[in-house]
Amino acid sequence: MTREIEMQEMDWTAIPKPSEEMQSRWLLQPSTKLKKKTNARKKAYAWSLVVLIGVLAVLGFSMMIRALTHRHHHQQQQTPEIYSSALHAGLKFFNSQRSGHLPDGNNVTWRGDSCVQDGKYPGSTYRNLSGGYYDGGDAIKSNFKMSFAMTMLSWSVIEYHSKYEAVGELSHVEGLIKWGTDYFLNTFDSSADIVNEMVLQVGDEGTESYCWMRPEDTDYKRHLHVCFGDCPNLAAEMAAALASASIVFSENVAYSQKLIQGAKILYKYAESSMKGISSNTDSSSSWDELLWGGTWLYYATGDVSYLDRVTTLALDDRSDSFSRDPGVFSWNTKLAGAQLLLTRLRLFLSPGYPSEEVLRKFHDQIGIVMCSYLPSFNKFNRTKGGLIQLNHGDPQPLQYAANAAFLAALYSDYLDASDTRGWTCGPNFYFAYVLRDFSRSQIDYILGKNPRNISYVVGFGERYPKRVHHRGASIPKDRKESCEGGWKWRESSKENPNVVEGAMVAGPDGHDGFRDDRTNPNYTEPTLTGNAGLVAALVALSGDKNMFEKNRIFYAVPPLFPDAPPPPAPWTP
Ligand SMILES: *[C@@H]1O[C@H](CO)[C@@H](O)[C@H](O)[C@H]1NC(C)=O
Ligand SMILES: *[C@@H]1O[C@H](CO)[C@@H](O)[C@H](O)[C@H]1NC(C)=O
Ligand SMILES: *[C@@H]1O[C@H](CO)[C@@H](O)[C@H](O)[C@H]1NC(C)=O
Ligand SMILES: *[C@@H]1O[C@H](CO)[C@@H](O)[C@H](O)[C@H]1NC(C)=O
Ligand SMILES: *[C@@H]1O[C@H](CO)[C@@H](O)[C@H](O)[C@H]1NC(C)=O
Repeated sequence: MTREIEMQEMDWTAIPKPSEEMQSRWLLQPSTKLKKKTNARKKAYAWSLVVLIGVLAVLGFSMMIRALTHRHHHQQQQTPEIYSSALHAGLKFFNSQRSGHLPDGNNVTWRGDSCVQDGKYPGSTYRNLSGGYYDGGDAIKSNFKMSFAMTMLSWSVIEYHSKYEAVGELSHVEGLIKWGTDYFLNTFDSSADIVNEMVLQVGDEGTESYCWMRPEDTDYKRHLHVCFGDCPNLAAEMAAALASASIVFSENVAYSQKLIQGAKILYKYAESSMKGISSNTDSSSSWDELLWGGTWLYYATGDVSYLDRVTTLALDDRSDSFSRDPGVFSWNTKLAGAQLLLTRLRLFLSPGYPSEEVLRKFHDQIGIVMCSYLPSFNKFNRTKGGLIQLNHGDPQPLQYAANAAFLAALYSDYLDASDTRGWTCGPNFYFAYVLRDFSRSQIDYILGKNPRNISYVVGFGERYPKRVHHRGASIPKDRKESCEGGWKWRESSKENPNVVEGAMVAGPDGHDGFRDDRTNPNYTEPTLTGNAGLVAALVALSGDKNMFEKNRIFYAVPPLFPDAPPPPAPWTP
């Protein structure tokens, strides 16, 4: 690609970024002026000195490179299988969050059927809202967050299908995704041609934070929150979830088509809702979901009209979106994810005109996002222990770090698979492995390489949080408590009776500090979205990097130049 810089063919895998001092010394060398008016002997002497210095410099430099290469390789080798074993754990959390009638083999001994009556109330058009996942430690089902979590799982399967297969988790993760998408298809009229309303959430924050009981025992009314034409962000996000899952299930043609059909009508609904509320300043916050959903629909269908939409609608009058918080990829901001997906298209298929201009912009911007993750740019603060503070010191830093770790590892795979050695940040060139190192540093921190020596993934490693803010895990299975009767379990200083295996908790504060305190969700509450990012990053880092799947995502994208003319005949005078 145009951004690649020619380098000599040798092992340059560990060229350090030249320090300011090195650079200036380098620059000074040629200016070590020799007096012009010297005799030949002096000249010869000076030249041999220059040659000698040159030789020494080259020797010293290559020794330095070797030392750094060595150190680098050493770093790479320290945690070989840890990512795949953490991956098994991270996926298991989704089993603990299942709502509705549990399937056979759910394998979480302390969980049972729960909230199977969701959606059933007199006059309801939503007969069956049983199913789906609880987002965190309570029993709220948020379609917006659940959609993002499912999209992340699907994305990771599409990119790393054979890695999942190799660790024996493919059918598990596919089952988890289908548990989500089956539920989504019940939250709007997916058989119609047009969407008029959709479910936003089941359960109320108020009741859920007041009562402390196992989801299996809830006896209070669970309200439905429905939106009527004013939730373009949810509709576009769910379109992304269904479209990405349709690629995962492409071999199950009927199901895949059903998902695509749902995604299409949701996206239409999102676009028309956008128009309806375009005077509302809020609408700008849905723009990233439209970009994200449209991009997934393009990959799922190969329909160029979606590509046109995401590359023209793009940055024009909404270009400020990029300056707001580039690099922060989360359940609430999808811009960086969409940019990376579209950069993928440019790297591997270069569709050219008319999308090229916007794709190039996204490519440049994702480069800047990647630069912002590097410590040398000081764009984001880091704790002393090295955790990047993408949410500016607010609680729950781990989910942001995990998402960034996924994007960085994935981009390094894109670069490798497109024979691009790296990318530039201003005047400096960086090799792809730098991104992988960043990714590892954040995931290693989460898995226990931090000043507290604690793993933030429950059940993983020697030390991990024992008082997770999670109702089901904190009350013994055979204790049916009332809403307020359960408070004693929340307030108890004892460890949870049940281990919510694989749950990544919210995480430490801005100074690597952590309190294993059930009453403070800022430290100890896990979330579905957090675990989805963790799982994606773990699969990206596990196994052999050649197992990245370059073409799976393009299965529906037709050859971009089907009518390309045959190569011209050789020119003859
Ligand atoms: C449940 O455990 C069994 C036996 O260990 C395993 O074969 C199966 O894949 C597990 N199921 C899930 C959904 O994890
Ligand atoms: C309700 O929908 C779920 C899918 O989310 C399905 O598994 C379940 O069988 C349905 N229940 C009924 C009673 O139809
Ligand atoms: C970094 O930390 C400093 C001091 O706490 C704070 O003022 C600044 O806003 C932080 N920067 C970012 C990008 O979060
Ligand atoms: C963490 O482990 C390191 C090295 O094993 C040790 O020096 C340090 O004291 C430990 N810190 C805590 C908080 O246990
Ligand atoms: C959790 O963090 C939020 C945002 O910083 C803060 O407002 C809230 O008081 C914290 N909750 C607890 C229990 O400390």
